[in-house]
Amino acid sequence: MKGLILSGGKGTRLRPLTYTAAKQLVPVANKAILFYVIENLIHAGIQDLGIIISPETGVLVQEAIGNGTRWGVNVSYIVQSEPAGLAHAVSTAREFLGDEPFVMYLGDNLIGSRINGLIETFSQSQVDALILLKEVQNPCQFGIAEVDAQGCLVRLVEKPQNPTSNLALVGVYIFSPVIHEAIAGLTPSWRGELEITDAIQRLLESGRAVTSYRLDAWWLDTGKKDDLLTANTIVLDEWARRDLQGEIDDQSQISGRVSIAPGSRIINSTLRGPIVIGANCLIKDSFIGPFTSIGDHSRIESSAIEHSVILNEVHIQQIDRLEDSLIGKNARLARHEQHRCLRLMISDDSVVEF
Ligand code: DAU
Repeated sequence: MKGLILSGGKGTRLRPLTYTAAKQLVPVANKAILFYVIENLIHAGIQDLGIIISPETGVLVQEAIGNGTRWGVNVSYIVQSEPAGLAHAVSTAREFLGDEPFVMYLGDNLIGSRINGLIETFSQSQVDALILLKEVQNPCQFGIAEVDAQGCLVRLVEKPQNPTSNLALVGVYIFSPVIHEAIAGLTPSWRGELEITDAIQRLLESGRAVTSYRLDAWWLDTGKKDDLLTANTIVLDEWARRDLQGEIDDQSQISGRVSIAPGSRIINSTLRGPIVIGANCLIKDSFIGPFTSIGDHSRIESSAIEHSVILNEVHIQQIDRLEDSLIGKNARLARHEQHRCLRLMISDDSVVEF
């Protein structure tokens, strides 16, 4: 079985971070979302991975992931010329996929469980599609599945205006090669995309076997800021370990599950886990509170930060309290002591709340 990861698209919802980076590379607990996706597929035994990339951010994805040797698997890249929909991405990967069954995994979806059970169910039940479902509170924003009293799938609808179910399609699907025939007959949806949800609906209509699997674990579609902070909190809560590398001076106090990468220096500061701090950071005269991730080469001085995601190469100085924040790469935040004013360097489309 092959794996197809969708890492193209525009990522408009996480702007401005995604002007300069692919949204699938935005880190959660200092690890790009795409790495969680790849590791989940590899853990399920998938050795041959194809990654859909866009012309705009594809090079960044290739640089971050490489050819798979670090995991001992094959990684191929497939350029999708425009984000014309999830089903369009599958047809772009037709040659890579050949006539094998495959797992399709959306590169911005984080789930709190392995997918080994899904693959076993697919192989044993000999269906043409297996979809993963989870109850959501905002069904209008997802593909939705209607099921009957026996739990059998009745209909799938992409982002319905008047949803008749709160069961959303999670971004992990398994298909037999029959899906390619269903995709070939599609026409663009109201949002101008070839929808994979419509292709699965066509399978249902033509009497093909489609089955569903309820996801018990958490699921986060990391496309928006609050989702990203939630993802960071959940991942740190469940997976952070205490691993103190770098230098920590005697004036500093570290409690709980705090991970500090090599080359970082902690001076006269208090750190309360769960926290991850990347490599070559300086944390001086500061408080770093729970559920915070700080990227490589960042400097935090005379500041207090909690429940935030700080990307690489950020400088923060004299900020009394920063919380629930997402700070992009290379950003500068400083308060000038004499004038009691904030100094910010903020990119387009940023949101600043005081
Ligand atoms: O997250 C689950 C939802 O994902 C499902 O409930 C929906 O049924 C499904 O259509 C999809 O909806 P989204 O609107 O959230 O998809 P999005 O445009 O965010 O794209 C998902 C991933 O696929 C993302 O990593 C970008 C990538 N992508 C997207 C498009 C449209 C591509 O690689 N190529 C594309 O053409």
